[in-house]
Amino acid sequence: MSEPQANQQQLKQAVASATLAHIEDGMILGVGTGSTVNCLIDLLPKVRLKGAVASSKVTQEKLEALGIEVMDLNFVGELDLYIDGADEVNPNLQLIKGGGGALTREKIVAAASKKFICMVDESKWVETLGRAFPVPIEVLPQARSYVARELVKLGGEPEYREGFVTDYGNLILDVYDLKIDSPSEMEQRLNNIVGVVCNGIFAANQADTLLIAKPSGIETLKR
Ligand code: 5RP
Repeated sequence: MSEPQANQQQLKQAVASATLAHIEDGMILGVGTGSTVNCLIDLLPKVRLKGAVASSKVTQEKLEALGIEVMDLNFVGELDLYIDGADEVNPNLQLIKGGGGALTREKIVAAASKKFICMVDESKWVETLGRAFPVPIEVLPQARSYVARELVKLGGEPEYREGFVTDYGNLILDVYDLKIDSPSEMEQRLNNIVGVVCNGIFAANQADTLLIAKPSGIETLKR
């Protein structure tokens, strides 16, 4: 009889465990948001962090519940390391993020860090970003309809994430069917729409290292 395949939750736990080895005592760690990151947070008491910067209120609460000091990014300077999951990752280690709606804070903390390690299970690996997963875009509430019309002009199908408000009090449009031949160009074009706070393409702030969990084990890719 063959061994049962690892399920997605087991893969998330495995990649979180492997990522723990990249975290050193004394670091101030940038901590992402999502179910994969939650697996890592559960393991963080094994390391003696100086502190952490959280990418969302949810992550902040989880860190504080474990007694980890959560610091204000404005007072800590450049972070040693940022760790987060992703909704999609391509072979250039460019990402789509924001499934949990924390994309703006995630991008800020990633940008403020020396190194970004992304950890995913194999379901997140794609050749081309945006074919399966929509690009989340955080917009100022007043600009929602205007931004949606501009996204349609770019060939996208925006869908309003009903009932969801970001940590910054803004709204999310999930954009399907965007043709993302160049993630960097699309990231900039989306940023140029007035009323857009941030978009979920992480090309300028792509991962430096990717840990990807497969049933056969953990693979590490670097750019
Ligand atoms: C949250 C994110 C998450 O990193 C992304 O949604 C992946 O989440 P999960 O680890 O639960 O699959 O970008 O805004």
